[in-house]
Amino acid sequence: MFSLANRNILMEVNLFVIIPVVLVIGVMAGLAIGIFLEKRASAGTGALVAIKASTVSGRGAFALKKISEGDIIERCPALEVTDRDIGGELLNYVFYGSTESARLVVMGNGMLFNHSSTPNVAYYREQSTLGVELVLYALRDISKEEELFYSYGDDWWTTRQ
Ligand SMILES: C[S@@+](CC[C@H](N)C(=O)[O-])C[C@H]1O[C@@H](n2cnc3c(N)ncnc32)[C@H](O)[C@@H]1O
Repeated sequence: MFSLANRNILMEVNLFVIIPVVLVIGVMAGLAIGIFLEKRASAGTGALVAIKASTVSGRGAFALKKISEGDIIERCPALEVTDRDIGGELLNYVFYGSTESARLVVMGNGMLFNHSSTPNVAYYREQSTLGVELVLYALRDISKEEELFYSYGDDWWTTRQ
């Protein structure tokens, strides 16, 4: 038979064991839920690209997962305007459009890729039923976390300071 004092000691010991165990389980469950939600967020949208600090300048685009040669990386809705609509810093962000004076203002992540003369990404303009799109695709296999670059073209740097 336990005395009342023995029973109290036993309850205190139990609390010393139970509270840390519950805390550890709570923290681990929180971590697991966080990892699950993050994975579901990127898998749910099918997103292959995230914008992060670039290895060459300001922001850049990075692969969220392994991408195979030929894969479409992103279909970016675009607004086709004329060169008269574009000025200042925006000149450094737009693409050429369907005519010499047309310019594409590209949405999604499309305008934030940096330049490389050995690019891992290329793009083409497509007229979809919803409007103009800039379609970005992989020129080679790309590893997870690699920065994504397309070429701005030979003229780009010579026409700027
Ligand atoms: C379309 S933006 C690219 C996103 C830009 N890094 C940002 O943070 O907004 C074009 C600008 O990025 C910079 N840039 C792009 N590629 C670069 C490179 N390879 N080296 C240095 N700067 C680059 C130039 O300043 C250029 O005007």
